[in-house]
Amino acid sequence: MKVAVIGAGAVGVSVCQFLLDNGACDTLVLVDLNQEKAQGEILDFGHTTSLNFTRNVKMVAGGYADCQGAGIVIITAGAQIKQGQQRDELAQINVEITLQIARELEKVAPEAILVLATNPVDLVSRFIIANTGYTAQRVISAGCLLDTARFMKIVADHVELDPKNVQGYVLGEHGATSFIPWSLCSIGGLSFDDYCDMVGKPRLARKALLQSVKQAGFEIFNRKGNTNHGIAASVYRIVQAILFDEGSILPVGAYLEGQFGIEDCVLSVPCLVNRQGIATRLPYPLTSHELAQLHGSARHLKALTEQVRK
Ligand code: LAC
Repeated sequence: MKVAVIGAGAVGVSVCQFLLDNGACDTLVLVDLNQEKAQGEILDFGHTTSLNFTRNVKMVAGGYADCQGAGIVIITAGAQIKQGQQRDELAQINVEITLQIARELEKVAPEAILVLATNPVDLVSRFIIANTGYTAQRVISAGCLLDTARFMKIVADHVELDPKNVQGYVLGEHGATSFIPWSLCSIGGLSFDDYCDMVGKPRLARKALLQSVKQAGFEIFNRKGNTNHGIAASVYRIVQAILFDEGSILPVGAYLEGQFGIEDCVLSVPCLVNRQGIATRLPYPLTSHELAQLHGSARHLKALTEQVRK
């Protein structure tokens, strides 16, 4: 399959690295407004296949025409938050940028599945679905998959386990209103409290844990000026579920059309992801408190949607 990455910044380049390391595509196309930068990255990546056992993937630094027939396109391009900014402050500029990109892609790769990383990621995904031919099934916001990874890591560190032993999700908006549906969380099949009691660790303070998850991106940003590895791994996780037709449950940003009583909004809910993209937005039985929090995210995003000039 041909996979294209739009945006040769730190996130786009990290995504390319994951794709190449895993031999996940036959052709990799990297597109950036700064063509020299994209060409430089591709030339550099070209030297990685000679010396190890990764597949000799065809690599192209190009334009939208090179995305012709791509099965998956990952959009990472757009303005980045500056020190002290919130993701929402990028709404206007990044909706404009990503809509323009999606309109170009529609001409050459109308069948592609789009995976979005540009912030505010749920909002820009919603605008693409509302304004282009790309359907709800084929537009995936990386959403709270990264927040979920952060959540798993924080919990795992507390109980000294590999994070993959922590089950659970962060849902809602990839931003200030995200929440943890505690009814769905476990460590190795036990409730968090039971697991902590069993291994003699203090029980986790839920409010503080959620706060740490939300703060995690800014902790990185304040130190290095951007985040890239975690978001790129999240994007690659989604790409892998599509490419290998996995049928995995991932908490990614999906367009809701009445599910959970929410319309016209992209929010992270548990989704079944396979070759079709978002095959199903799973109707998990959230508690009334969790449902209220999901609706809180929807209200926040709808208010932000209203502020964007088209
Ligand atoms: C983060 C950016 C991707 O949380 O929103 O790292």
